[in-house]
Amino acid sequence: MISFDYSQSLGFLPKGAQEAMRPRARKAHSSLVEGTGQGSEFLGWRELLLSPDDALIGDIEQLAVRIREEADVFLSIGIGGSYLGARAVIDALTPYFRTEESGPEILFAGTDMSGAYLKDLLAYLEGKSVFVNVISKSGTTLEPAIAFRLLREWMERTFDDADDRIIITTDPHKGALNALLDTHSYRKYVIPSNVGGRFSVMTPVGLLPIAVAGIDIRSFFYGAVDACREYSSAEDNPSIQYGALRSLFLERGFSTEVLATFEPALDAIGSWWQQLYGESEGKSHNGLFPVSLRYSTDLHSLGQYVQDGKRNIIETFLLVKDDGGDISVDNDESNLDGLNYLVGKPLTHINRKAYEGTARAHIEGGVPVMTLEIPDLSADSLGRLLYFFQHGVSVSGYLLRINPFDQPGVEAYKKEMFRLLGKPGAD
Ligand code: PA5
Repeated sequence: MISFDYSQSLGFLPKGAQEAMRPRARKAHSSLVEGTGQGSEFLGWRELLLSPDDALIGDIEQLAVRIREEADVFLSIGIGGSYLGARAVIDALTPYFRTEESGPEILFAGTDMSGAYLKDLLAYLEGKSVFVNVISKSGTTLEPAIAFRLLREWMERTFDDADDRIIITTDPHKGALNALLDTHSYRKYVIPSNVGGRFSVMTPVGLLPIAVAGIDIRSFFYGAVDACREYSSAEDNPSIQYGALRSLFLERGFSTEVLATFEPALDAIGSWWQQLYGESEGKSHNGLFPVSLRYSTDLHSLGQYVQDGKRNIIETFLLVKDDGGDISVDNDESNLDGLNYLVGKPLTHINRKAYEGTARAHIEGGVPVMTLEIPDLSADSLGRLLYFFQHGVSVSGYLLRINPFDQPGVEAYKKEMFRLLGKPGAD
């Protein structure tokens, strides 16, 4: 279960504001669950949880077992919603350092246009058993398309069975990746047409890389199924409250939301959350600017601004109850470093006090604080958490009266870039 405590934010709102928002939030929630809101043709991410396809999960699990046996490196090629969810879950649920059980190294490409990265990557892959999963719904996104052309050429030169080592994940029918199937026997998984990239982590887009990392995708998927059922049936639940409170603060002039974690393993969850909220809400010159920070690291950097800069920030802490930090500070008779006051205290406890102290200081500094807590870093908890955020952004998007499921703004840079690159038809 996810717990959501917003009590420390209410002091920043006028009395009765939350009550007054409730009917509007319920309406936004109904538009989502009844499929009557803007962009409702893109609600496949909910439909696939409400009617789970166990055969597909089983098929992905089987392929993942084979890849785990045969690969040294599993390379995911994709950008935005085509890789952020998988990376978020893999980083959160696998050990910080590789172990004998780790299986293939999971690497990412096509996430930018760095030629230096691709050159180094190709050199690094030499001599290794490599499987490639290229993930692109449109099949036309330049970053993964370039990376895949280079990698495809390298795979064909390196492996006799290159076609068996390449998996494409794309639209059922459209796009350049489907065209390649005319001449190649790649295995194909489908991104359903009614699921947008940033909502696709529960499709093969996320499930295959996550399974290859050795994570129990059934438990992950069914965690999201449970959360979907729970949050869809109740008219007032943490996910709606989160969406509603964010909107209330936005309406009161706050313009930035910080998502703060105290565990490096959650950095990539922060990147996934940034994309989900930024791409869903940043429209019509509106929306909270989402910034993910890792504490206590960033308390020695942007923490200064959060405490004392322009007062337009709300802060959501994302905590893990059982964070695995059961290592303690030992006694040292000399106490030259002055740390004996911490003897016997586990790092989990010290980190928790860092959160409590930070929250208190930020509230005193004028920052409304909300706290989300998941019980542990397990596949089930992560499935629930990712659904929580997806439901929440749909509610807050509808409260903003925008379509949370499109991303028209992403096209603007592409148009200019393609013109400059001389792409046929770009003018
Ligand atoms: O959320 C989205 O829709 C985007 O971030 C896309 O995932 C991203 O632009 C990649 O698109 P594609 O999968 O078509 O290559």
